[in-house]
Amino acid sequence: MTLALIRVPASTIIQCELTYLAREPIDFTRAQQQHRAYCAALARCGARVVTLPARAEFPDSVFVEDTAIIFAECAVITAPGALSRRAEVELSAAELARYRPLARIASPATIDGGDVLRIGKKVFVGLSQRTNPAGIDALRAIIAPFGYEVSAVPVRGCLHLKTGCTALDGHTLLANPDWIDLAPLREFEIVNIARAEPFAANVLRIGATILAHLFPATIRLIEQRGYAVFPIDISEFIKAEAGLTCMSLLIENLE
Ligand code: GLY
Repeated sequence: MTLALIRVPASTIIQCELTYLAREPIDFTRAQQQHRAYCAALARCGARVVTLPARAEFPDSVFVEDTAIIFAECAVITAPGALSRRAEVELSAAELARYRPLARIASPATIDGGDVLRIGKKVFVGLSQRTNPAGIDALRAIIAPFGYEVSAVPVRGCLHLKTGCTALDGHTLLANPDWIDLAPLREFEIVNIARAEPFAANVLRIGATILAHLFPATIRLIEQRGYAVFPIDISEFIKAEAGLTCMSLLIENLE
């Protein structure tokens, strides 16, 4: 069974961090509706959704993925690259301690969960505006003893590695090659997103289903390869420079 930890969006999301995008007004009522639909989609894909309350003091706190990296052996509590997000991690740590032993990464090392793409025992970490080389080294020191191999992936032009690259399955990636240096990922088959849809590479695989935002050309590309796609509108969260993976922490193989 997969457990999906989510946090209800706060009205302060309109003041969220932005790195590459210009600020556009976020319709909070619409964001709340889209978030409820997102949770319903997770449940429909078989996840048990655990809902954490909104925290207005943290505008970006709906993006729980950045606060922790979950492995079978432990949950690594991150040191987010944005100062406004640093204290969010304690909220996640309190909850995750129920499911996994905790390990921590401490500043000046920085790492956001959105920069971490795990495929089996291989862990790819974006070297980005949010994650620094010390953050990658600190993660490696924690998980290498469990047999994980950690590689850095340069990210340019988007917030996180998973903004520009996610996994469709254990050997196929969906990617925006303009944003991610794909050289460290050369062992995988790469499906490029439709060029007119630069944010389309952030999809969330849950069970056998690929949740994807309404980017029609990229959805067609994925479906043509035989994947089952569940389209879902998260347009208000894309204005906050986020994607489908950002809004949940998945804990897999729970009894
Ligand atoms: N607005 C998402 C982030 O900057 O973390």
